[in-house]
Amino acid sequence: MELDKRHIVLGVTGGIAAYKAAELVRELQRAGASVQVVMTHAATHFVTPVTFQALSARAVFADQWDDRIGNNMAHIELSRGADAILIAPASADFIGKLANGLCDDLLGTMCVARKCPLLVAPAMNRQMWTNPAVRRNVAQLRTDGVTLFGPESGDQACGEVGPGRMLEPPAIVEELVAFFAPRLLAGRRVVVTAGPTYEPIDPVRGITNRSSGKMGFALARACRQAGAEVRLVAGPTTLPTPAGVTRTDVETAREMCDAALDACAPGCDIFIAVAAVADWQVTNASAHKIKKDEVGTTPELAFAENPDILQTVAALPNAPYCVGFAAESKDLARNGEQKRRRKGVPFLVANIGHETFGCDDNELLLIDEHGMKPLGRASKDELARALVAEIAGRLGKPATGSGQ
Ligand code: CTP
Repeated sequence: MELDKRHIVLGVTGGIAAYKAAELVRELQRAGASVQVVMTHAATHFVTPVTFQALSARAVFADQWDDRIGNNMAHIELSRGADAILIAPASADFIGKLANGLCDDLLGTMCVARKCPLLVAPAMNRQMWTNPAVRRNVAQLRTDGVTLFGPESGDQACGEVGPGRMLEPPAIVEELVAFFAPRLLAGRRVVVTAGPTYEPIDPVRGITNRSSGKMGFALARACRQAGAEVRLVAGPTTLPTPAGVTRTDVETAREMCDAALDACAPGCDIFIAVAAVADWQVTNASAHKIKKDEVGTTPELAFAENPDILQTVAALPNAPYCVGFAAESKDLARNGEQKRRRKGVPFLVANIGHETFGCDDNELLLIDEHGMKPLGRASKDELARALVAEIAGRLGKPATGSGQ
C-alpha cells in the first residue's frame, strides 16, 4: 500500500471541517499508515476525542499537561518516529500560531519541537482565507518550508462559496502519497489518453471499445505523484479525476485526437496513449434516432478510419517520448513488437486486454528496442508506479528532486 509503514501524527484543530478528519483517519489507514491523533482544545468542541480514539485505536491527546505519557513530554514523545505531522483541518488561528512559533498548547508545541515535515490542510471561510493577516501567515509558513495541501474553492459550511474549503480526505491522502513518492518525473509535462471513445450511429446509439479507463487514470495519478504536470484526455468514463491532474473529457476519437494534439503542443515531454480508441467512425450517422419502421430493413452503416492518435503524436516534429499500450487477445510479444514498430514509438506496454477490462489488477509486458520485460500481476496502481519508474529510467536523465 502507498503509505505502508508511514506513521502520521494527525493534528485536528477547531473548525467545522474537523468532522472530515474522522474520515481522513480511515483513509490514511486504508492507505497503510498508522495514525496518532492530537487535537487542540477547540477541536474537541466539534468532534470528541473518543471518535478519533475508536478509529485510530490509539489514545488521543489534547492537553499539554497530560500525565499519560511517563515523562510528561507528550510534545516530544508523540511525534518521535513520525514521518510527518499533518494538520487537517488547519484553522486560521492555528496557522497564525504556526507562523509565529507559539507553544501555548500541545499541538503547537509539537509542531515547534518536531523533527519531521509539517503538512497543513487549511480550512476556513473565504473571507478569513483572503484576510491580509492570514495571507501573511500562510506566506510565512511557505517560507519556513511547510507544505500546504489546498485549500480548494467551493461550498462552505457558512453558506458562502469561495476559496478556503479543506481538500476532501481522499485528495489529502493523494497529496500525502505524492509528498512521499520519489520525484522521478519532477519538472516533466505528461499527457495521458484514457478510457474508450464513443462513435455515434444516431443520437442514442453508438460504437465503443471496452475500457474502464482505470489503467490510464492510475497512470495519470502516478505521474502526478512523481512530480509531473499531468493533462488527462479522457473518453466516456465515470472515474473521478486524480488530484492535481488537468482533465479534458471527449467522446469521439477525433475529439480525443484534437485534445491530445492540443495538450501535447506546449512542450509536452511524455505522451502515454492508454485509451482504447475506436478504429472506425460511422460516416452516415443520423442526426435523428433511426426508427425501425422507417428504415424497413437492417440499416447499412458506412465507416471511415479514425486518426491514429499515438502515431500522429509520435510523428510530430519535436515529438514527446511516446508510450503506447497494446490490448491483444493472443501472441502478446509478437503483436506487441510489431505494433511498437508500426506506430513508431520507443516503448510499448502490452497486455491481454479482454482478461482485465474493468478489473483493479493487470499483468503487463514491456517492450522496447532492447527486448521484453514482464511486469507480473499487480494492482493497476502498483503497475502504474512501476511504469513511471520504467519511463523515467528510459528518459535517460537522473531523477530530479527526492522523496522524503
Ligand atoms: N491508438 C491511438 N489511436 C487509434 C488507435 C490506437 O492512439 N486510433 C493507440 C492506443 O491508445 C494504444 C495503441 O495505439 O496506445 C495501440 O492500440 P490498439 O487498439 O491495441 O491497436 P490498434 O492500433 O487499434 O491496432 P489493432 O486494432 O489492429 O490491434
